[in-house]
Amino acid sequence: MAKIAVFGGTFNPIHNGHIKLIESFDSAMNFDEILIVPTNIPPHKISKSLVSGEHRMNMIAAAVKDMPKVKPCDIELKREGASYTFETVRQLKEIYPDDKLFFIVGSDMFLSFEKWRNFEEIFVNVTVCSAAREYGDYEKMLKKAQTYKEKYSAECVVMNFDVLELSSTDVRQAVFNFEEISSLVPEATQEYIYENALYAPEFVHRELIALLKAMLKPSRFKHSLNVSRRAVQLAKIFGGDIKKAYTAGVAHDICKCMDMTQTKAWLSISGEKYSEVFLNSPQLWHAAAGANYLKYELKIDDEDIINAVRYHTSARENMSRLEQIIYLADLTSVERNYPDIDEMREISEKSLEDAMLYALKFIVGDLAKRNLALCEDTVKAYNRAILNTYAK
Ligand SMILES: [Fe+2]
Ligand SMILES: [Fe+2]
Repeated sequence: MAKIAVFGGTFNPIHNGHIKLIESFDSAMNFDEILIVPTNIPPHKISKSLVSGEHRMNMIAAAVKDMPKVKPCDIELKREGASYTFETVRQLKEIYPDDKLFFIVGSDMFLSFEKWRNFEEIFVNVTVCSAAREYGDYEKMLKKAQTYKEKYSAECVVMNFDVLELSSTDVRQAVFNFEEISSLVPEATQEYIYENALYAPEFVHRELIALLKAMLKPSRFKHSLNVSRRAVQLAKIFGGDIKKAYTAGVAHDICKCMDMTQTKAWLSISGEKYSEVFLNSPQLWHAAAGANYLKYELKIDDEDIINAVRYHTSARENMSRLEQIIYLADLTSVERNYPDIDEMREISEKSLEDAMLYALKFIVGDLAKRNLALCEDTVKAYNRAILNTYAK
């Protein structure tokens, strides 16, 4: 007889608190299989922040991909209508007639179990497992378990784990606010959320993200999403336009993975005369090509966004706030790990000017060391940043 655990909930989205609870129960109970069952929400109850059952299933699948015992299970989603646990239990009893079923429920659910529809039937067929959420809950739950045993011959397992106080609402809010969520959800779930623009403000265009995914290599695509988040974080600190920071940040490398022929075609479309240094610096081309792509292909007519993309590699003299934000977001996005990244991040959150000076000093030195020419815009940007320090 196998031990099958069932963990139900909305999972909008699944998060590290859920994962930790599953792991804690599993190490205590040693289950053979653990099913995560997202609840179906009837259409009239769907709120703006609730994503589809398919997305919730995919986020669970991503979260547990390295946990062989754990599987997402869509029986409630398939059943449609309101999800009643007794129906799920009946269905699972048919699927696993010879196995022992365990239901993992939250402490609040456990304490109010007698309010569940046909709860007596549930008690007959499963062992109900629950963990105390707060100090003080545990004693209350043990008492309840005793009552359930006496009144309904229920089998209950009450644990006093060190639970992770985290809610799906916390995760959704953090995503909406462009905060990092790497400590809140498993990495693969985080990627799924960003790639599908879940829980994001309306100005986050799914079409643009899909286009970037198609045009960029996976690591470049990830970088672009990270830069968009960092750009919004910096825009918030320095009072920049959040929507523009997002758009310029996510699209700044849009032409980075194009072949040379295409890149050159996008460079020439504007009729701009490029300098000799620029033409001999292929590392700068994707920025100018990208600006042209946004302008002529995607019809983005905001000059500040176009220039932020145009100068994100070379920099230039007298950069706008948005141009500085994109330049620095590109250098300080979450996956960057060069030796003085912590210092660079810290400075970039205190002063855009100081951060530009810090970055330009490094880049000028680095290009010189590598026997590479300095393009005119970089020289002017560097000189301006240095001259500004004289004036202080
Ligand atoms: Fe770039
Ligand atoms: Fe970049």
